[in-house]
Amino acid sequence: MSTATSPSSSSLCSGGICWVTMHTKGSPCCCSFDDYKLTTEWLLNQTAHRPKVAVICGSGLGLLADRATNKQTFRYQDIPNFPISTVPGHEGCLVFGLFGETPCVFMKGHFHLYEGYSLCQVTFPVRIFKLMGVESVLVINACGGLCSDFQVGDIMIIKDHINLPGFAGQHPLCGPNDERFGIRFPCMSDAYSKDLRALVGQVGQELGVRDLIREGVYCMVSGPNFETVAEARMLMVLGCDSVGMSMVPEVTVAKHCGLRVLGLSLVTNKVSLDYSREEKPNHDEVLEICEMRAEVLQKLITRLISRCQQQNINTH
Ligand code: HPA
Repeated sequence: MSTATSPSSSSLCSGGICWVTMHTKGSPCCCSFDDYKLTTEWLLNQTAHRPKVAVICGSGLGLLADRATNKQTFRYQDIPNFPISTVPGHEGCLVFGLFGETPCVFMKGHFHLYEGYSLCQVTFPVRIFKLMGVESVLVINACGGLCSDFQVGDIMIIKDHINLPGFAGQHPLCGPNDERFGIRFPCMSDAYSKDLRALVGQVGQELGVRDLIREGVYCMVSGPNFETVAEARMLMVLGCDSVGMSMVPEVTVAKHCGLRVLGLSLVTNKVSLDYSREEKPNHDEVLEICEMRAEVLQKLITRLISRCQQQNINTH
């Protein structure tokens, strides 16, 4: 797996374990509990860090890890069973470190359906974090703004989501349920922690960036194309405030295994709802806006994590 840049049967074999042989009866699940255990034990043997918070950083947002101290970094290709990022702007490494006094792990780059990964692979790291003792997951990505009030550069706290691929059976919990992680029919109506959402508002106020912070419903699409005008209009009718190509599988698996979840989405472009609109979204613009907001996000997250520790929000 060390030199693979995109998923294929051969790239999924590592350390004597072949993911593709682990399919059960047409199930999309390609990882067994032993796979998760092997990777967890490998990491626990390689690092003395015992993270309580995991931060999953999307396109261009890996900079968020830079503020951590006492860092230890692992490239995805060196971690047994780990998929490898193929998207520009996704560095592809796990960074363990301290944010203030809180032990954290950062994913610099994550995995997407559009890269050809199964949802089992996309969400693989989340279960590793759970087995390592993580209690809270913070997922940050880029999105297109649908809500007319949203501006480019706004930070949307995710209140709820629509799992559009999930409606069509592309769901990370399809297949046999492993009770060691969670129940067969998990509740998703409270996927995003109310306490953490409230805390983002407070922290934003203290930092003088409250005006940038919004709250809304995020819709996941598989991508990789940006939406057509008709699709964007449909999403508006469905009640979505923003749209993006990631996050929901990780959040779903995190909630399934009892992790506390916060989702933040940076509005990197306005989605075209009008055929006469000249501006077209593109990935360079997405990366540019991420870079522009990296410092604000870094400050927000640093303070958020230290507040969580003070208020003991991490612990269940
Ligand atoms: N659509 C889908 N995903 C995105 C967008 C968008 O407009 N912007 C950033 N990620």
